[in-house]
Amino acid sequence: MIIRSIDNVEKIRNEFIEHGFVHINVGKVTVDIVKQISKYFGELKTFKQETYMGEEKQVLKVSEDAVLSSNAVDWHRDMCYDPEECHGSLLAFIECDTETYTEFVDCNIAWDHLDKETQDYLKTVTSTYAGKPRWWDTRPDLLKDAISRTIGYEHPITGQTTLYFSPETMVHIDKPFRTRDYVLHCEPFAFKHYWHHGDILVYDNIRMLHRRPAFNCHRVLWRTNFNYESYN
Ligand SMILES: [Fe+2]
Repeated sequence: MIIRSIDNVEKIRNEFIEHGFVHINVGKVTVDIVKQISKYFGELKTFKQETYMGEEKQVLKVSEDAVLSSNAVDWHRDMCYDPEECHGSLLAFIECDTETYTEFVDCNIAWDHLDKETQDYLKTVTSTYAGKPRWWDTRPDLLKDAISRTIGYEHPITGQTTLYFSPETMVHIDKPFRTRDYVLHCEPFAFKHYWHHGDILVYDNIRMLHRRPAFNCHRVLWRTNFNYESYN
């Protein structure tokens, strides 16, 4: 479903809670629109990078000449290595001169397709996240404040258990866990979102894995991150 208005807050929130993924397109993207939608969920996070839009540093520019460059980014959760929780992300398409996509997996579905014995085991396996080694020189806090979560992880807001791992940024697992096998388990549930003019995606960053292929073009997305509260 594509939501064509940003005024129906309940519809946007309900779609997010039900599916963990919202596709909005009102024909244009502005800093005010992405901030307004993000604030339907909670307070926006402030980015430390220098490639933000606007003085408040709440809208991050993601492009080949800014964050993440044009490289492929493997399956991950945004900022799962950061001491602050990051429940949700918004990505907005600004421009690209060829067609590109971002790919998502609903890990609630991936969890539901595991047998009970495997689920029980994964609730006892803990993975640690500390970003990538090349980041540690400039962000030693990532190593010092490494974050650990169980692979069978209960969502702090919805209470739903999900298959939580982030192959791009995992640094340690305390019990046997074949990451590649679980990537292969997830991939049949993956879907690609091809970016078009006006697209804004909001996704539950605890529930969804996402990745992108490398691109060889000029592409700009904007991103916000936020935490949210229960709406019940
Ligand atoms: Fe991401």
